[in-house]
Amino acid sequence: MLRNITKKDVNNFKEWFDNYVYTFKTGDEHQQENIALKEEHTRRVCKEILDLGKELGLDKNELCLSETAALFHDIGRFEQYARYHTFVDSQSVDHSLLGVTILKDNNILCSLDEPVQDVILRTIRYHNRATLPREETETCLFFAKLLRDADKLDIWRVVTDYYQQKDGKRNGAIECGLPDTPEISEEVYYDLMNKNIVDIKHVKNLNDFKLLQIGWVFDINFSPTFQRIKARHYLDMIRDVLPKGKNIQDVFAVVQSFLQGR
Ligand SMILES: [Fe+2]
Repeated sequence: MLRNITKKDVNNFKEWFDNYVYTFKTGDEHQQENIALKEEHTRRVCKEILDLGKELGLDKNELCLSETAALFHDIGRFEQYARYHTFVDSQSVDHSLLGVTILKDNNILCSLDEPVQDVILRTIRYHNRATLPREETETCLFFAKLLRDADKLDIWRVVTDYYQQKDGKRNGAIECGLPDTPEISEEVYYDLMNKNIVDIKHVKNLNDFKLLQIGWVFDINFSPTFQRIKARHYLDMIRDVLPKGKNIQDVFAVVQSFLQGR
């Protein structure tokens, strides 16, 4: 099924991606920064997915499919930012749906077998869902899980870099416009204590948002991803920028014991 996708296809897709993104490199410095943020994120997710995929023993075609899904997973982000000046889907558009529409409208994947196109588009469509659909093929779910892991690995990198920067410059696009107030919402605390991902509806401030990022560990699929989370100390870096109270200690005790078992 996956025979018809090769490195040559991937190189053509990369060329199209570069030209497409170039058309968004206009506007003020802030806009350019946010476009560059997503462009660099995309490149890193491509690298993450290839590293994970190789470790999981994928063949050449499967790696090409994975890389293509990673390359295009956030293709809707550029148009989203140009139109709405935000990356918050609930305040603008679902960026995965917009991405799929852009790929279809431009006939980007038409050189591939239809089943392959289909898996790529559905993988992209599912990458930002709270949970994966039950009624789906094993193949599609596998690639969707792989993309979600690779994407999270790089978002952790983006946010931990951001939290650690010393100049204190704020970026509303990374903070999703949330207020930096000192409390932690009770619902967020209980989501994590129950080893669930945090429901976005419970997120009221920046602390909650940082805790939501912690909670992604409960939605990780593959052991090479867990190894990278531990080796890169992402969760410790987020903990460093959270309040030091008992509730945070409780949450980290749960998260650490969960991670140790992976
Ligand atoms: Fe992404």
